[in-house]
Amino acid sequence: MKSITRREFITRASLLTGSGYTAVLSLGLIPEAPAHSLRLPGNGTGKKVIILGAGLTGLAAAYELGKLGYDCTVLEARDRSGGRIWTVRNGTRETEVGGSEQVARFDEGQYFNAGATRIPHHHQSVISYCRELGVPLETFNNVNEAAYLYGEGLGKGKLNGQRLRVRELHNDLRGYTAELLAKAFDQQALDLPMTREDQEKIMEYLKAEGGLRTDKLYRGTAQRGYLNPPGAGDNPGKLAPPHELMEIIRSGYADPYFYNTADYTYEQQMTMLTPVGGMDRIVRAFEKKVAPRIVYRAEVREIRKTENGVRVVYAKPGEPAGAEKELTGDFGVCTLPLPVLREVANDFSSGVQRAIDFVEYNRSGKIGLQFKRRFWEEDDGIFGGISRTNLDITQILYPSSDYLSRKGILVGYYNFGGRAEKVGDLSLAERERLALEQGSKIHPQYPQEFESSFSLAWQKVRYSLGGWATYTPETRARHYPALLEPDGNFYLAGEHTSYLTAWMAGSFESAHRTVKAIHGRVSRQ
Ligand code: ALA
Repeated sequence: MKSITRREFITRASLLTGSGYTAVLSLGLIPEAPAHSLRLPGNGTGKKVIILGAGLTGLAAAYELGKLGYDCTVLEARDRSGGRIWTVRNGTRETEVGGSEQVARFDEGQYFNAGATRIPHHHQSVISYCRELGVPLETFNNVNEAAYLYGEGLGKGKLNGQRLRVRELHNDLRGYTAELLAKAFDQQALDLPMTREDQEKIMEYLKAEGGLRTDKLYRGTAQRGYLNPPGAGDNPGKLAPPHELMEIIRSGYADPYFYNTADYTYEQQMTMLTPVGGMDRIVRAFEKKVAPRIVYRAEVREIRKTENGVRVVYAKPGEPAGAEKELTGDFGVCTLPLPVLREVANDFSSGVQRAIDFVEYNRSGKIGLQFKRRFWEEDDGIFGGISRTNLDITQILYPSSDYLSRKGILVGYYNFGGRAEKVGDLSLAERERLALEQGSKIHPQYPQEFESSFSLAWQKVRYSLGGWATYTPETRARHYPALLEPDGNFYLAGEHTSYLTAWMAGSFESAHRTVKAIHGRVSRQ
């Protein structure tokens, strides 16, 4: 019998069975690839795929389909790829829907990530692409006990309108809740089937966790910081007294704005990562692989199913109907965000049309503020991390890169929902004023050090029209399933077709799912 190479065998097996990879795996011929890495046998030579949108999903789909030999064309309305993966640098331009043109005036080398900014350490699809494409990562400092909390107008307590270090509140609340629980144990108030030994163990744990004294009372701890830190010679340091529990509560610092949950939600647990030099490094790395496939300034005007394939009509932004061009292919991958699809003529099924109409997108805004000096590092000892407030700015994000350098850009607000809508509806100058005014309550250095800003309201950013898909249990049950099925030869893809909405991993996993689906279908033909 004529011997065949392993590659030939895999190809033939996949053509025969349409699920060659599984067959070959079961024969033990190739090691199982990790779930995040696509290794599909066979090829799609001769098949044309039109990909709508050169965001992460479109780029990854083009890259993976290209590896398999498909002939891909990516239509991108903007003159850049990356979509919501967008790093703003000196000279970046943007005109929001109904807004005026904005040009970033930052120093060379300064930047901020206007969209995605952090990568959870367990988002393997993102990390493995960074590995494969040679994108260096650094730590994104998501949690910083030295950052501030600032509550205003939330109550009559004396902490109202005072900034607190995160560590003060975290440790005080941890201490008081441990004390309350210890008291409840002592009074047998908890109806738990515990032996005396169990109780002693849990009591020891509470003492350690809450920093309780031997009498089980919380009276402050070094974890929450010092009035004077310890030093050399005869300086043992002087501990700061704890805030009183009732003052914390009556000043609004037990309100949801200041919950500690971001530190331990699954997606935001440290270590978080970010590309050195800006999130768009990932986009540039994909471009190196697929750039010739991308048609820029190609705004999709019509999405049509044909008998055996797809047809897409597109034109340069602003061009009249007469100037439109048409492209036909065997398959289409539509990655356009649903609010954008609302405005594109299409003949998707009624289920998909309803999903397009009813799945909501989050409103979200950010402003980058360049300062003459890194006062948050120099004066406040804040290296990365996030300050939080109940004011419209919601969060201040400190850069996790280039520590100790002279200038820096803060994200002066990162807000969502109603606050993002309110701030997004302001003029550019008013947004800047609001960010400076509210931020000055946390950092009085703002007016002295401020240089320039660049802001965006994602719900108004053309070709995005929202931050990310936000499903309710109802829309997930009712509309999501329609987005997962091929509609003729069209496949919908993007973070909105995943359970990882708002994360880059959602885009990548959805791209992989789509590539597998198309390739599976072609392999079976
Ligand atoms: N995943 C987005 C973030 O990191 C929402 O803020």
